[in-house]
Amino acid sequence: MTINQKYINSFVRATEMGAYGASLFLGKDDKNAADQAAVDEMRNQLNKTNMRGRIVIGEGELDEAPMLYMGEKVGNMSGDEFDIAVDPLEGTNFAAKNLPNALSVLAATKKGNLLYAPETYMEKIAIGPNLPKDLVDLDFGIKKNIKILSDAKNLSPDKLTVCILKRPRHDNIVSILNSLKVKINFISDGDVSGVISVAGPNPSSDMYIGTGGGPEGVLAAAALSCLKCQMQTRLVFQNDYEKKKVMNIGIEDLYKKYSIDDMVRDDVIFCATGVTDGDIVSGVKHKDNTYQTETFVLHKESKTNKKIVNIFKK
Ligand code: FBP
Repeated sequence: MTINQKYINSFVRATEMGAYGASLFLGKDDKNAADQAAVDEMRNQLNKTNMRGRIVIGEGELDEAPMLYMGEKVGNMSGDEFDIAVDPLEGTNFAAKNLPNALSVLAATKKGNLLYAPETYMEKIAIGPNLPKDLVDLDFGIKKNIKILSDAKNLSPDKLTVCILKRPRHDNIVSILNSLKVKINFISDGDVSGVISVAGPNPSSDMYIGTGGGPEGVLAAAALSCLKCQMQTRLVFQNDYEKKKVMNIGIEDLYKKYSIDDMVRDDVIFCATGVTDGDIVSGVKHKDNTYQTETFVLHKESKTNKKIVNIFKK
């Protein structure tokens, strides 16, 4: 079912407000305050929307997060039913240190079409558009995936760029990439942007790989679903408690490999407003009585792929 324009405008407004909230705490070395302000502003805005929304990916569960928790109802309880994934501040460290690439992000589908993803880690592999279906696979291992991608793109491995979070857990992947002379785009945080770096007319990466947040994985999948890219993911558990939580929300196959279509069914919208300047959009710009935002908006059905700049009174 198609999501109509009035809803798209409302969702864009929600990430604009999330970004605005976080921008009030830029460079103040307080990531929790920046995150909370983004949550408050986004939630306030979502609750003004004529919809019956349900948060399927948010700030955690009810006992961990008083606001925008998984299962929370948002909207004024009239209008269409939506499942909504939010990351009001993606890159809390970036905002706290006033570094590039902090975003406020949201994805929405009509009810029942978005993976109800828990707060666990997730393995991710993503590649760009116009490549054979199901080309790469988490189970192939990095060496085989690079070989397959280099054959499909007709480029030697040393001409490929892979984006990965700089974490000790990725040391093994990194040493294999080094041995293959693949160029690496390390990111210190923010793997929603990292995954999206495989898309677009001039992608900065040929492949994204590695383990990051599960919620961020589904948000990135929403974007790649609109951009006709490929992505595969699998949940990663740190302990039995996490496994139990996942089983409690009805996921039976804990080690299922999810394709984009498993995570995002049907029509979807994705919006990301810059908090700080970044690879995708510019950050919030404050002037005396106004502020300016820039938002990257994708809508699958209408093939919308644009950036919107808005100026608001404070
Ligand atoms: P926050 O915005 O919640 O701080 O998350 C940033 C992030 O870098 C995500 O983009 C990524 O998925 C996750 O953290 C990686 O987690 P970790 O820092 O534990 O490796």
